[in-house]
Amino acid sequence: MSAATEHSETRPPIAYRIRGGEPVIGQIRALGAKNFATKAMVAALLGDTPTQLLNYPAIGDVAITREMLTAIGVVLTDEEDALLIDPAGLGSACVPIPDSGSNRIPILLLGALLHRFEEVSVPVLGGCRIGERPVDFHLTAIEQFGGEVITTAEGYIARRRGRLRGAQIKLPYPSVGATETCLFLSVLAEGRSVIANAAIEPEIIELITMLRAMGAVIFTSAGREIRVEGVRRLAGTRMKILGDRIEAASWACLAGASNGDITVSGINPNNLGNFLGYFQQVGGGFELIDSDTVRFFRRTPLTPTVVETDVYPGFSTDWQQPFAIMLTQAHGISIIHETVYENRFGYLKALNILGANTQLTTHCLGGLLCRYRDANHEHSAIIVGPTPLHAEETAITIPDLRAGLAYIIAAAIARGTSLIFGVPMLERGYGDVVPRLSRMNLQIERLLAADVTASSRR
Ligand code: EPU
Repeated sequence: MSAATEHSETRPPIAYRIRGGEPVIGQIRALGAKNFATKAMVAALLGDTPTQLLNYPAIGDVAITREMLTAIGVVLTDEEDALLIDPAGLGSACVPIPDSGSNRIPILLLGALLHRFEEVSVPVLGGCRIGERPVDFHLTAIEQFGGEVITTAEGYIARRRGRLRGAQIKLPYPSVGATETCLFLSVLAEGRSVIANAAIEPEIIELITMLRAMGAVIFTSAGREIRVEGVRRLAGTRMKILGDRIEAASWACLAGASNGDITVSGINPNNLGNFLGYFQQVGGGFELIDSDTVRFFRRTPLTPTVVETDVYPGFSTDWQQPFAIMLTQAHGISIIHETVYENRFGYLKALNILGANTQLTTHCLGGLLCRYRDANHEHSAIIVGPTPLHAEETAITIPDLRAGLAYIIAAAIARGTSLIFGVPMLERGYGDVVPRLSRMNLQIERLLAADVTASSRR
């Protein structure tokens, strides 16, 4: 079954203007992780008392999720340093599409809310267009737990008769979202569940910790297997959102690409995993300042490499875009083989406009034959470096969230002025980055897109 069509988002047209060409130097704090914060908001609905989330990020994706939860009766209150989520008033099982667009969360709500209601409906998913992104694993899992699912043009409807029953699930691929759906389904289901070939990303491990703190009985093992003993009720908890490892790696790439020196706080270095290996291999360096602060810099002239994206603990698909920008400054030919999504190189065309030398191919370059080997997706990139980047009021439009931060890095190293459009896409994951980046020595402004267009015409 494939995902229903994406909902188009209506946001104010904002643009960033960046004057680049200097090493970026300074300190920056990573926000709470987007890909955990929104899942923790869903987990909070499984408790019958309120949950307090600390370090939650002020980003578009949290705002969208908040809008969906409010619409079904959940009360969300901003406290001094936390978001309080009270599910007591949860009164509707029909999740509407928020005014600000959809994201990936509706499919997770489908499973989570099915414990509370006998019929749940959620809208079509939004999020980045980086592949087909089907949700078949989620829908099959709901059925294996005893539910029924109908796909419509507007979204998904799930039904159950009686309590959901524990199930033995083997995921065809260690999908992050499908593992989360299985966790949400299993913690309150009757009896034991086993989730085999599960995702083990740090955000999943964090979700397991949160669910355990709510009273769930969950066991992990050395492999990709998670065992859950269903319980009758869960209570709210207090949880600090972990720092965003994707964002932290992007700031590291900004330091490496610009020959700068950036100290990133708010991040557990363990969660950067193999990124640190690749970063050092190509000439980056890092210093552990304390348990949640890492300093990144360029240690030697950058050298090329071959990277294959993979599920954790492999090189994350969300790291490849900023890393690609850094590789444009490496001396030689690098290869990136994207094995998680079939269409995640849309941003390279604009990079070539700034002077990069990149090419795409449908072949599996790099060694591994991946799931896309027999299809026609341009999922391997060749990057020839070093190429100085340059911009003269050059306008580029962000195709997806992670590519957005990659464009900021490209604009930061390009001599001249770049105009970046499609900013709401980037701000879904990072919020308004201008105040944080301005504290370093990067010249960046946030402007109404109409004003930028007019001034660039002058
Ligand atoms: N897949 C299926 N069927 C399914 C589910 C997934 O075929 O039912 C496939 C996908 O098409 C993809 C692969 O499995 O090829 C992995 O998808 P996964 O389900 O792991 O991704 P996700 O849960 O939709 C999350 C993050 C992504 C991140 C991936 C991989 C969120 C909201 N999104 O997506 O983050 O790239 O895991 O780590 O957690 C981003 O933040 O910009 C972003 C895209």
